[in-house]
Amino acid sequence: MLSVDRYREEFEEYLSRKVVKKEPANLYEPMVYILGLGGKRVRPVLVLLAAEIFGSDYKKALDAALAIEVFHNFSLVHDDIMDDAPLRRGEQTVHERWDINTGILSGDAMLIKAYQLFENYPGETFRHLAELFSKTAIEVCEGQQYDIDFESREKVTIEQYLKMIEYKTAVLVGASLKMGAIVANASEENCNRIYEFGRLLGIAFQLQDDYLDAFGNPDSFGKQVGGDIIENKKTFLYLTSLEEAALGEANQLEDLYSINPPDPTAKIETVKGLFESSGAAELTRQEIKKYTQKAFAVLDELQIEQDRKEILYNFGKGLMNRQV
Ligand code: IPE
Ligand code: IPE
Ligand code: MG
Ligand code: MG
Ligand code: MG
Repeated sequence: MLSVDRYREEFEEYLSRKVVKKEPANLYEPMVYILGLGGKRVRPVLVLLAAEIFGSDYKKALDAALAIEVFHNFSLVHDDIMDDAPLRRGEQTVHERWDINTGILSGDAMLIKAYQLFENYPGETFRHLAELFSKTAIEVCEGQQYDIDFESREKVTIEQYLKMIEYKTAVLVGASLKMGAIVANASEENCNRIYEFGRLLGIAFQLQDDYLDAFGNPDSFGKQVGGDIIENKKTFLYLTSLEEAALGEANQLEDLYSINPPDPTAKIETVKGLFESSGAAELTRQEIKKYTQKAFAVLDELQIEQDRKEILYNFGKGLMNRQV
């Protein structure tokens, strides 16, 4: 096994060789642009890690890793249109730099490109990968639709929110690990366990994403801090604040989530204050820990060597403590 950093480097090298500019420029440049902005590469690294953990050479998993990262970046390009987001990885989003139509079509092409990469696998492996990919991609769409629906829906429960983030984010983390396992011909039981580990880790990951959206450091976060508050996203922070705050403050929060002021600075500051004073910020940190621990409990059950478990365990801990 290599170090996590080495897998990331190997992936970067593969990506820069495989994703290159061609004509028509306005279709492919945004693709090269967004994929070249970097990011943490969490999902492709998980594909490669899982492949080696289950006894394959990571090189065999590079196309699956690339497919997952291209799909992830497609989802970000469209997500940034839907969320009206100006910044991604510290740079302009695709629809800001070009325009919305360019974001839509280059995103579509990325989705297809992702699918195409699975064609490099032989029969049975291709079928398994493609099946998992289709199932996962449609769930991501469902999650994204719930996310948008919830912005204007009056009552959202924490259970509904957790289902939404499972679909929009966690299933892709699970699928990344499972794809590595599929490439390595792991047993069905191990494929399913590693998926479950990723799914639970993915829920913690999105909770952390929501937390950082409010409380991240604007100098390093790379996205617009407070973007979820501007968009009235009913995150765990918001829903927990409503449950925990005194009636007056809960009403104030609901009122703030019904307006869209042209200058959102004051709204963001007040809402963040309510997230803190209600105890929701602390409860969110605890929830992130809870899901990470649940993921680790599944990891304990996995039939792999202890030193390999450690790698996944440390990777999970790193995600829980990340600042971007
Ligand atoms: C952002 O994903 C979207 C979510 C599902 C939370 P990442 O936080 O993995 O974004 P990058 O790829 O590192 O930029
Ligand atoms: C994004 O959730 C999930 C997908 C892209 C499928 P967010 O909207 O919270 O992601 P960020 O914060 O923009 O990265
Ligand atoms: Mg977004
Ligand atoms: Mg979104
Ligand atoms: Mg977010």
